[in-house]
Formats: sequence, C-alpha cells, structure tokens
Amino acid sequence: MNQLTAQAPGGVPHLSQWQGVWRWLLLAFALVFSLGVAQVAHAQEADPNREMSTAAPGIDADQWRQVRSGETGPNYRDSRADSNYNLINASGETWRQWRNRWVSPFGLIVIGGMIGIIALFYLIVGRKHLEEPRTGRKLFRWPLFMRALHWSVASLFIVLALTGLNLLFGKFVFRGLFGDAFWGWMVSSSKLLHNYLGPIFSVLLIVMLVSLIKDNLPKKHDLEWFKKGGGLVGKGHVDAGFANGGEKAWYWLLASVGLLVVASGLVLDFPNFGQGRDTMQWANLVHAVGALGLTAVSVGHIYIGTLGTEGSLEGMTTGYVDETWAKEHHNLWYEEVKDQSVSEQELADRKASKDAGESPAPRSS
Ligand code: HEM
Repeated sequence: MNQLTAQAPGGVPHLSQWQGVWRWLLLAFALVFSLGVAQVAHAQEADPNREMSTAAPGIDADQWRQVRSGETGPNYRDSRADSNYNLINASGETWRQWRNRWVSPFGLIVIGGMIGIIALFYLIVGRKHLEEPRTGRKLFRWPLFMRALHWSVASLFIVLALTGLNLLFGKFVFRGLFGDAFWGWMVSSSKLLHNYLGPIFSVLLIVMLVSLIKDNLPKKHDLEWFKKGGGLVGKGHVDAGFANGGEKAWYWLLASVGLLVVASGLVLDFPNFGQGRDTMQWANLVHAVGALGLTAVSVGHIYIGTLGTEGSLEGMTTGYVDETWAKEHHNLWYEEVKDQSVSEQELADRKASKDAGESPAPRSS
C-alpha cells in the first residue's frame, strides 16, 4: 500500500470508512432536499399571487387590464416601446411570471434531480476503483498555476452558486426560520457577494478556458468515449488523451453556457451602459437558466473528481497522478508521458531539498 492509500496516522479513519459515512450523509441529504423541494413547490403553487399582493398591494386584475391596454394611472403606465422608469408594467409582470413559475421551480428540480441521481448512482454502483494496483510511480499532470486557477474558479463558482440559490430560493427556507431581520441581512450580503465576485470569476474563467483549450479540442476517439459511457460503469477502458470525452464536454459547456452566464451577469452587474429594463429582464432569465444548469452539471463534475473516481483528486491537489490511474483513465496521454514517471521517493527527496532551500534536482525522465 502506498502513502496515498495507507491508514492515516493518529487513528484517522481509512477512506473506505468515510465512504460508509458519505453514503448515509447523501441519503439524509436526499431526504431533506426532497422535503425542501416539496416546500418550495407548495409555497409557489398554493398561491402564485401571494408574493405579488405583498410586493404591489392594490394592483388587481382590473388594473392589470388597464396597464396592458396602455392606460396610465398615478403609479403605473405601460409604454411598450420603453418600459424603463415604469415601476409597474406588463413586460415586468411577464418576466416575474417566467422567473417564479418556470425558471425557479425547474432549476430546483434539475439540481435536486442531479443530486438524487448521483446519490443513487453512488449507493448502487459505488466508487470507480483502480483495477490494477498502483505502481507507486507518479506522472506530472497539473502545474501549480493550473491547480491554483482551478481551485480559485471552483471556490468562486461555489460561492456564486450558493449566493445565487439564496437569492432565488432562500426566502422559502431562511425567512421563516430566522425571521425578517436576519433574512434581510442574509439576502443583502448574498447579493453584494454575488455582484462583486461575479466579475472576478468571469476573468478567471476566461483565463482557465484559454489555458485549457489545446487539450480540449474534440478528437475522433471522444465519440467512442461517449458511446461507452466513459467506462464509468463496469470494466474495460476507453481511449482518452489528456482530457477525456466527459472533461471535454464540461470544458465546452463552460466555454458556451459559462460565458453566456458571465456575459448576462455583466449586463446585470453594470446597468450604467444604457441597457433598458427589458434587456435586463432577458439577461436575468438567460443568467438564471444557464447558471442553474451549470450548477446541476457541476455536481456531477465534483462527484467524479472526488468520491466517484479513485485517484483523480490527487492530481488536482498534488499535481501528480499514479501511473495506473493515467493508464486506466487517459491511456493515450499515458503513452506520451510514460517515460517521465518519477518514484514517490524521488518526489519526497525533491520536496525535502526544496524545503531545505537547495536547488531542485533535475526532472527525471
Ligand atoms: C469542489 C469542487 C471541485 C472539485 C473537487 C473538482 C475536481 C477536479 C479534478 C480532480 C479535476 C482533474 C481531473 C483530471 O485530472 O483529469 C478537475 C478538472 C477540471 N475542473 Fe474541477 N473540480 C471542482 C469544481 C470545479 C468547478 C466549479 C469548475 C468550473 C466552474 C471546474 C472546472 C474544471 C475544469 C475546466 C477542469 C479541467 C478539465 C479538462 O481537462 O478539460 N471544477 N476538477
């Protein structure tokens, strides 16, 4: 057994024991989540106009008819060409209906469904273990720059996802739980964090996409990878270069939907470029649909990178992967770099000499 799988010192439980705990945690989460979904669905379905009656008291069906027919009143006016500056207008109501009746509930269903499917997959199929024993020799996969970039983008994404979800759904859970004062603080800090971190995420995402594009160009063998479901279930290997079909799909999703989310987010974040309220409403719907979809897929990526596949996470944390992992998951890349492997002992020596301030030993091949 090598140092990465050995019993941790000080009586810390072995990985397999954690997996047992994880299974129960996932099951409990799935239960609590399904109760949460029911609660939100109930809140939105029971009285769709409940929120409207508190947000804009006194606007009844007759007044909506007047607004839509173009009549004006002291507080409302609907000029279809330009709905800016009209607090109450028909296009705003259409946006509200789309957001509350379709985007929010379906977003919750898609994310909840994804978590449910992954939890079930894990409970039934379990972790994809390495088929052969580790060789103990390591291949360099992720330089420090890429690891730092990945973890910065990932952390920002998670904070943006959590604050975004809080803006959409938080009131159904936390307002009743903590009361108006605390909820008010929660939602305004979520908005502030979301608005300020969004542009930083945008820049880092673009840097990451540019740095990774070379390894993610589609190849013929990627099709085969998808046909065989990436070899996630059962035995047998599928051809993959540095990035496999699934990673490339994630990359191109980020390069398309991710950039759409970024662009629509910037339209919302900087309303001072003359964009009208209608543009903002569209940007809001595009942003929410894209971000909820990406959040759902990110759950799959996070599962595969941690619990789902033995040996993947150590690449993104230490920079090195075991030869066996490389052979089984990225065989074409392995063939290119196999003569550059280094033993764990060599790596430990290099680290020790680096810590001692000596110049690092040349990279062995
Ligand atoms: C805690 C959350 C996350 C974990 C544990 C995680 C884990 C990993 C791991 C282990 C890899 C390396 C796979 C390999 O060596 O082949 C990876 C690659 C990658 N991750 Fe993550 N990740 C997380 C979140 C994210 C997020 C939120 C994003 C994007 C918004 C992201 C984007 C990527 C990309 C683009 C790659 C490179 C795939 C390629 O080669 O094309 N990750 N991740």
